[in-house]
Amino acid sequence: PIIVSSREVIAEMQPTMYGIFFEDINFAADGGLYAELVKNRSFEFTLPMMGWSQPNSNTHSLNENSGMATAMRSGKEHHAHYCRVEVKNDSGYSLINEGFRGMGVKAGEAYNLSFMAAPEGEGIREIRFELIGKDDKVLAGATVAVGGGDWAKYKATLVPERSEAKARLKITFKGQGIVNMDMISLFPQNTWKNRPNGLRNDLVTLLDEMAPGFLRFPGGCIVEGRTLDRRYQWKKTIGPLEDRDVLINRWNTEFDHRPAPDYYQSFGLGFFEYFQLAEDLGAEPLPILSCGMACQFNTGELVPMDELDPYIQDALDLIEFANGPVDSPWGKIRKDMGHPKTFDMKYIGIGNEQWGPEYIARYNVFEKAIKAKYPDMIIVSGSGPFAEGEHFEYGMRELRKLNAGIIDEHYYKSPQWFRENADRYDHYDPEGPKVFAGEYAAQSVAIASPENRNNWECALSEAAFITGLERNAAVVHLTSYAPLMAHTEGWQWTPDLIWFDNLRSYGTPNYYVQKLFATNKGTHVVPALRAGKALTGQDDLYATASLDRSTNEIIVKIVNTSAAVKAQEVVFEGVSRLQSRATITVLQNDDLKAENALDRATNISPEDKEIRTHKNTVKLSLLPYSVNVVRVKRS
Ligand code: AHR
Repeated sequence: PIIVSSREVIAEMQPTMYGIFFEDINFAADGGLYAELVKNRSFEFTLPMMGWSQPNSNTHSLNENSGMATAMRSGKEHHAHYCRVEVKNDSGYSLINEGFRGMGVKAGEAYNLSFMAAPEGEGIREIRFELIGKDDKVLAGATVAVGGGDWAKYKATLVPERSEAKARLKITFKGQGIVNMDMISLFPQNTWKNRPNGLRNDLVTLLDEMAPGFLRFPGGCIVEGRTLDRRYQWKKTIGPLEDRDVLINRWNTEFDHRPAPDYYQSFGLGFFEYFQLAEDLGAEPLPILSCGMACQFNTGELVPMDELDPYIQDALDLIEFANGPVDSPWGKIRKDMGHPKTFDMKYIGIGNEQWGPEYIARYNVFEKAIKAKYPDMIIVSGSGPFAEGEHFEYGMRELRKLNAGIIDEHYYKSPQWFRENADRYDHYDPEGPKVFAGEYAAQSVAIASPENRNNWECALSEAAFITGLERNAAVVHLTSYAPLMAHTEGWQWTPDLIWFDNLRSYGTPNYYVQKLFATNKGTHVVPALRAGKALTGQDDLYATASLDRSTNEIIVKIVNTSAAVKAQEVVFEGVSRLQSRATITVLQNDDLKAENALDRATNISPEDKEIRTHKNTVKLSLLPYSVNVVRVKRS
């Protein structure tokens, strides 16, 4: 039998044990979670007309017939361009936005249109907006009267009469003359918590149902940038939307087989929105900042040590933005954005996946400055790629010497590696720095390959590995799968936890593994031993157990990675009586290649069953290739 010793607490389970890591990769933010439907709403992409077409005009910037040019809006350094439409005849000039691989709209739902306009003269008094389908049929329309010469904001509502995944926004103009336009935006009214500038409801719901303990953001490699100039700078992502930066995404052209020349960051989902999302999810916010090193897989550009101050100031100011009083300079900005309450940020990450003496030197300076001002802040450092080898060992050694708080480890490995490394953290010193397993995912083929699948073998192997993370909760304080999200038509990296298109979304089997562990973590880890040993793959079984002191339950997780049914008895020691009814939740499939998909979203998903206890024992019949979570209650 597996003996669960319910009186012998090995470790406290951190509330942050299972979290999520959001990075804007695979069109996860613009074109994904961030519900804006208009691509390049502000004409700030490198090619200002990217995403826009003018079927009835033979001009772009020349402006010879009906047509438009982009021009500079004065005083807007980061948001310099706008669209100058000049209609010269009645040939029916129109401006069409293609959306992010189309716009997903739903029948009968309301969509909020807004734009800024400054007509020149009286020539154009009305602008017509239409959502058009693939067949060019009009799904919804609204006419907006414009006037006056100054920039003003206009609004309308569009309600499509049928659903369409590939709609476009068509704009036509009544009259002849000139009108300047900017920030042309279309959002569903039905966003998460019905917020304007909001997030896609279905996607946040999937996240919410994972009950994440933390939200790491905004990356990943996008924190670092290919060059320092293109690193993520949080200060350029807050405040009024029309003043936020627009930046080419670091994943714009990474993999030749999936080039995405139209991949930019609008920063409509910026640091304020990330903090707000963390708050909504009940998750600790964990922002990661540039440490003054561009991505070492690219240029590896370095900020000289004596020029690091602005980077360090960014970190200190961020803490004030999140936690400072409303009369502090950055706390006031948070208040002005509608959140006088602090975000109660406890963690900050310095650098993403950096390595070598250059990283250690920079980390050291950040740590000193942050701790001097905010001694309670928990600092997350990076161990470089990918959990083994020369760079990793150097980083770990040096960070341990510095007695770093939490070290972030990343591993993208084969399913077999995950099964074989369930004991990885059994060998870590519980007195040393804590571990953040910040990015991991089993790779069925190789990182980012189109053949790389979120199949059941990968998910099952991750589950086996996670039993080892949980058993070592004394060392492992935070964990997250990566990447989190991907658009089925716009990805750069596989595998990913959640897939979506313009209207639909689903959790992969890996998602259900994460959710199962996160929603059954309990509060304290207790031993679950067979023949005196933790189960780390003997007989293809893996196990961990915990107490949930809030519900008085004992939770046992057992993963069976073999093709055979396994009879397994579990004995609960130190319990006088168990309630006779218990539950077992099973995630299982006989086919290791099985997957979920947009039209088979819950093909592999957990099922709950009731089981009986006998005195202090349960007898289980573990299905082949299964993840099993047993919850018993002490009476
Ligand atoms: O998760 C995708 C990428 O993998 C992250 O941006 C980076 O940190 C890692 O190399």
